[in-house]
Parts: sequence; structure tokens; C-alpha cells
Amino acid sequence: MYTRQNQRDLTSAQKKRFTAAVLELKRNGTYDSLVRTHDKYFVPDRDSRLRVGHMSPSFFPWHRCYLLAFERELREIDPSVSVPYWDWTTDSSPVSSLWAEDFLGGTGRTGDRRVMTGPFAYDKGNWTVTVGVMEAAYLTRNLGRPQNPISLPTRAELQWAIDEPVYDASPWDSTAAGFRNKLEGWAAPKSERWRNHNKVHQWIGGHMTGGTAPNDPAFWLHHAFVDLIWDRWQQKHPRSGYLPAVPPGPGDAQRGRVLALDEPMPPWNVTPREMFGHQGIYRYA
Ligand code: CU
Ligand code: CU
Repeated sequence: MYTRQNQRDLTSAQKKRFTAAVLELKRNGTYDSLVRTHDKYFVPDRDSRLRVGHMSPSFFPWHRCYLLAFERELREIDPSVSVPYWDWTTDSSPVSSLWAEDFLGGTGRTGDRRVMTGPFAYDKGNWTVTVGVMEAAYLTRNLGRPQNPISLPTRAELQWAIDEPVYDASPWDSTAAGFRNKLEGWAAPKSERWRNHNKVHQWIGGHMTGGTAPNDPAFWLHHAFVDLIWDRWQQKHPRSGYLPAVPPGPGDAQRGRVLALDEPMPPWNVTPREMFGHQGIYRYA
């Protein structure tokens, strides 16, 4: 059993080992294959295919499995490394140590949004974006979106999602009520457009706003916190379970498009139920 730490508590040696392992996965091609996996399963709900990763109930278990796949690879490179989490309700500034030269590097420069600092800056020569190159071969960010400012979700906004006792609800998509969508963060047009998880992607900007978001290593730290939030919700609502418990019935427009509790999630063939806990694998500090 290993520990996932709050990124603000990492020593400089730990930051160095984390970024070095990430760079090695990039060098050997594993990293980009993981980015392709995320992009492949980035299916919006206007599409009639199965949605396993986003805009659907399996958002939490699918990303838990995805982070574990990444972390397994990291730990093969360096067994002392795990995925740190970023609590964006407290480290909410573009000048947080998270964005420093010795960790993830900072925002993109004016104009083309190219990240110029840190180990993932294109000019350092170790981070060429190959998946989704239509946007740019260099990593892009626009922290806080200064031309049209957006702020990170507050503690109260996060609590509003955690307080919701129902996991998810029909039609199980970006319009659904329930904890999953309050946290994933699709909001109706005309209201505040992005919430919680989605708002964080928008706050970072650049690559983080699309299907190839994991091109930005910030993705993993963001999703580790999302994973921790799922734990907090389960602790707060021990009698609430994953929904739907059984697949939508014949005649339901979502039949075949969302996964029930015991249906296997591609590409790993692991069910949401099997992803409920992570006891014995990792814990959060
Ligand atoms: Cu995702
Ligand atoms: Cu995300």
C-alpha cells in the first residue's frame, strides 16, 4: 500500500522523482498511448455510442482505473513515486508552488499560450505533444484565463456537490441531477457554465480543455483530487450506491450508452463495483 500525497507537501526531491518518471514515460511512448486512450473515450452525450469516461455515471470509476494504469507505469520506472493530488480549493493561485519551475511549470506566454517554464516546456526538448497536434506541438496553458477571468471552484462549491446524496440520475448525461454531474460539472446554458471538475479544466486552459487533456501532467493531479472527492462522498453517504444499478430498460434512450454497476468498462473490463474502493492499493494523506 502506498500513499498519494497533497502536492503542496511534496519535498523538492519528491517533485524531482515524480517529474523524472513522467518524462521517462513520455520518452518511451507509454505516456502518449495513455493520452490516446483518454481521447478515444472522450465521447459527448450528443453521440449515440457508449459513454464510459465522461458525461456518464462511470466518470468516477473509469478515471480511477485510468489513474491506476498511469500510476502503475510510473511506479515501474520509480517505485517511490505515486500521483500527488491538487486540492484546488486551497491552492488556487497561478503562482502556487504547483506551477513553479521545479514542478509543473507555469502558464503559457501571451499569444500562443506556450508553456515556457518547468520540465514540460517545449523548449526544454522533452515534451513534444504528439496526440492532438492540430492544436500545437507544444504544451499550452492559460491559467485563470486572464482575458475572461474564471476562478477555481471554492470549498462551498465543492461541498454543494458532496452534500448531494444521490449518486446519479436518469438521463445519466450532462443534464442529470445527482452527485456525479454536480462534481463533473456540466451546467445548463445561461447558468454558470462550468462547475467543479470541468471548471478546473477551463481554469488551466490550453490542452486541458479537450479530449487530449492528459497531455498536461496537471491532469493527473487534478483527477487524483477528483478521486479523493469520490471517497469523501462515499464516507458522507454510506448508504448511497452507484447508479444505475441495472442497465436502462428497452425503450430508454440511454440503453447501451451508459454502464450499470456490474457492467465492464472498456478498455480494462473492470466494473464500476470493482472500483469502489482502493483499500490495499493506495491511501490519501
Ligand atoms: Cu477525463
Ligand atoms: Cu477531467
